[in-house]
Amino acid sequence: MRMRFGEALQVTVFGSSHGPDVGSVVEGLPAGLPVDLTGIQAELDRRSPVGRKLATRRAERDQLILTHGVSGGRTTGGPVVGYVRNEDVRRGPYRPLEDVPRPGHADYPARERYGGSLDLSGGGIFSGRMTVGLVLAGALVRPFLTAQGVSVVAFTRSIHGISVPETALSLPLTGLEAASRENELGAPDPDAAEAMTRSIEEARRSGDSVGGIIEARAEGLPVGLGEPFFDSLEGSLAHALFAIPAVKGVEFGSGFASADRLGSENNDPYEMVQGTVRTRTNHAGGILGGLSTGMPLLLRVVVKPTSSIAREQESISLSRRTAQRLVVTGRHDPCIVPRAVPVVEHVTAFVLADFLLRRGRS
Ligand SMILES: Cc1cc2nc3c(=O)[nH]c(=O)nc-3n(C[C@H](O)[C@H](O)[C@H](O)COP(=O)(O)O)c2cc1C
Repeated sequence: MRMRFGEALQVTVFGSSHGPDVGSVVEGLPAGLPVDLTGIQAELDRRSPVGRKLATRRAERDQLILTHGVSGGRTTGGPVVGYVRNEDVRRGPYRPLEDVPRPGHADYPARERYGGSLDLSGGGIFSGRMTVGLVLAGALVRPFLTAQGVSVVAFTRSIHGISVPETALSLPLTGLEAASRENELGAPDPDAAEAMTRSIEEARRSGDSVGGIIEARAEGLPVGLGEPFFDSLEGSLAHALFAIPAVKGVEFGSGFASADRLGSENNDPYEMVQGTVRTRTNHAGGILGGLSTGMPLLLRVVVKPTSSIAREQESISLSRRTAQRLVVTGRHDPCIVPRAVPVVEHVTAFVLADFLLRRGRS
């Protein structure tokens, strides 16, 4: 099991869904960074299900407890340790899953790999709750990124085929951020958000779930960020983003759509704008050769439909080695996308901060 990520900046996530708590240890933060507890709590609240109409009914308040690494409102330079308690734990619905694994969840391979010693109740370490530690890590590094002139924003791009219109996507970063905070979906367009809401409600009513796409953008990056060969900027971002449960795809810039383009269409022509090297288009999504180009970073992640659905499904009994119908009970998100938006944003921020700190060392 590997719970740590990063190089100059490292995050180690700990806890499990139904254990006492979930959180992270963040190492490598420069000393003296301001730590705004109210601001960090607000980021955890963006991820929390409480107050959302379209999320799991598991009522976790996610009140941050910071125990180490902060003094007088600033980082000490030592490891920062923070966590939230798991307060609304109900193990009952997960007992049948010890023998009958949920299709689409980690139950079967996790039990085969770790046996009974790993507590998989509530999804264990495979639960979306583990992303509390990722949001904390990202929120802690934001003042450093801001001081470097880097801003990062993530938003819902589509849910179950309903997309934010192109007009909304051309807003400046601050506009995208403001518009996407206007609704529970995290989508920067009210009409799209309404249609997405209907789609999620319909799926929930029929005992089903839906997925979608989250987009993240970052501006203000210097040219040349990244450590090719293997720690390319896109490779490292993808590595970290794939750690978010339910993420099934990551693309940069035009990504998979570039497969259908000619080279002449896909290349981004260079131009000089007020003495700065820019590209007229940004199909590369701000990364070439694993290095930042100085153009906005643009990435998208695919989030699958929640696997724990209320409909009866086909599974097996692992003890009897026979077919077994399964009805998953317990409390689940009918769509993970809205709650994963801040997670994608903070993971992106964390990786960018790691590379900025690495560059400072080399
Ligand atoms: C914020 C968040 C909330 C999630 N909520 C649920 C949930 O309520 N029910 C569920 O089955 N999976 C949920 N997941 C996804 C599962 O944890 C994930 O699908 C599972 O661990 C299997 O991993 P994989 O989908 O990455 O292969 C959530 C993920 C995130 C990021």
